[in-house]
Amino acid sequence: MKVEASAPGKCILFGEHAVVFGQPAVAVAIEQRITVIIEPIEGEYWKLEGGRLDASKHPHLNTLRHRLWPKSAGAPALSIHIKGDIPRASGLGSSAALSVAACAALRAARGRWITENVTGTDGWAEGYASTVTDTDAFEAKDDPEAGIRLDQFDKRERHLVGNEAVSIDECALLGHAVEAAAQGGRASPMDASTCAHGGVVLLSDVLEPEVEHLYQRRLAMRDGMRTWELHDLGMPKGGDEVYLVIGNTGVYAPTAVQVAKVAEAIRIEPQRMKEIETIGTIARRGILALKKGDFEAVGRAMIENQVMLKGLGVSCPELDTLIRAAGPSSLGAKLTGAGGGGCMVALTKNPKATSEAIELAGGRTHISKFGNLGLRVEVAKDVPFWSPGQ
Ligand code: MEV
Repeated sequence: MKVEASAPGKCILFGEHAVVFGQPAVAVAIEQRITVIIEPIEGEYWKLEGGRLDASKHPHLNTLRHRLWPKSAGAPALSIHIKGDIPRASGLGSSAALSVAACAALRAARGRWITENVTGTDGWAEGYASTVTDTDAFEAKDDPEAGIRLDQFDKRERHLVGNEAVSIDECALLGHAVEAAAQGGRASPMDASTCAHGGVVLLSDVLEPEVEHLYQRRLAMRDGMRTWELHDLGMPKGGDEVYLVIGNTGVYAPTAVQVAKVAEAIRIEPQRMKEIETIGTIARRGILALKKGDFEAVGRAMIENQVMLKGLGVSCPELDTLIRAAGPSSLGAKLTGAGGGGCMVALTKNPKATSEAIELAGGRTHISKFGNLGLRVEVAKDVPFWSPGQ
């Protein structure tokens, strides 16, 4: 019995931090991926890389365990292996990629009961999705009924397993719930949705014309309700002629710390919300440029976005050095993700020159094209491992 699922990391072109306050943003799935491998084991405790899983060190896995694998419903302990090439706490969505890949693996291994003859999520007897309103992805605890749709469950007829049971929407939703739990209740759905769907994902405060709408997400934060409209932007015109060069400073920078820092700055000086709104305006300009395939203008929006992020206090000298080095050979460069360290990204038509310049300035680089695949179940052998109601 074994399930293996993988998901890409992500890189943000515009709008990080401001998106937590509901402003627009765009993120791109990158080539680097994380793979999660799970197998059932005897005994009471979960294992990670052969040692006992420490829930406090792995809040993402722990939260998913409550949503999808309740011990109280008889789910067996699991052994987990994680492999991949996305560095941790570097702004490339390693925790979101891990969460959505783990979510897909657990769902493939558990399967999903459905009610025959009803299409779409209306026929689900269990699960979480943007159109399912009777289970709560953000609140569930280790409860035998977590994620069970009580009205439907008595009518369950067929059990889907493996890839057939997996829903990208569900993985993105649970990924967001898990990120929100790990970031003290403050997280946009950007990272989880990009790692789940792949491609180029646009978040907005409005329904965007001419692009595919995926779903709406809402999250109650301490200072109010946030709503995001998520869209699949598709491959931008001319997107096959530009590259993203990602430069890693090597400075460890957990997202939760940076997100809390920005929230605190705004709590102390509420007028700084203007800076958040300006990032939103810049992102909107960048989105228009992306839609037109005008990459010179996309690069300019990235440069302006960096000026604002620096003003917010989330850049650092190491990031500034790499961004400066990328300047002459690229269309635009900025930090990507939460900042405070981690990675920068440059948009360029000359990836070799940009990568060399960043490396010379002390960064480690990855080159990524646009249009990378999202979540995938690679192996689902002898599933289900377990299922509620069997
Ligand atoms: C982190 O990759 C992006 C942030 O905007 C946080 C979030 O969107 O939840 C800093």
